[in-house]
Amino acid sequence: MKFFADTADIAEIRDLAETGLLDGVTTNPSLIHKAGRDFIETVREITSFVSGPVSAEVVALDHDEMMREAEVLRRIADNVTIKVPLTPDGLKTCAKLSGEGTMVNVTLCFSAAQALLAAKAGATFISPFVGRHDDIGFNGMELIADIRLIYDNYDFATQILVASVRHPMHVVDAAKLGADVMTAPPKIIHQLFKHPLTDSGIAGFLKDWEASGQRIG
Ligand code: G3P
Repeated sequence: MKFFADTADIAEIRDLAETGLLDGVTTNPSLIHKAGRDFIETVREITSFVSGPVSAEVVALDHDEMMREAEVLRRIADNVTIKVPLTPDGLKTCAKLSGEGTMVNVTLCFSAAQALLAAKAGATFISPFVGRHDDIGFNGMELIADIRLIYDNYDFATQILVASVRHPMHVVDAAKLGADVMTAPPKIIHQLFKHPLTDSGIAGFLKDWEASGQRIG
């Protein structure tokens, strides 16, 4: 499973990149607003040290304007992935960009039917929002299972990118279902390391090591 960081905060992304576990980055207009920096400059800086896909989202709603914005964004770097909303114009833009060899992430997916459409439009990634699905009383993981089944039935190459991840179990459940990628806020990626028995185990080993009076090297 690939790990993407769902943030536009450069310091957080650099910190995760140093772990060697980071495969890419996703941003959206809300995350750019939260980071408080220029959109283009932020994406450029991320691509200067992240070699995997870096999603940058168009904000236009019609195809022609989406294409114009995508042109500006994909000029930043080869690994910029254009993020488009799951609308008829978004999928038209997806098909065009994919045909030109540009990676596309189709976002705001809330149904298996929408995911099927995105795969047919040649999306590189489909982003089902599991947390927001849970928020309205549905089961986000059932959506992931349905998409996995459909994509496998037809050998679609579109990668399932689980988004709106809210806690570590979303990551584990998505991995069990065979999702290709998950994108999560850095805080959640750091939470994946945590287990109280790891902490108490280290404390116990260190105490006994100190009592042994030995040192390494
Ligand atoms: O990338 C978009 C997505 O991950 C949003 O997450 O927590 O705002 O639903 P959230």
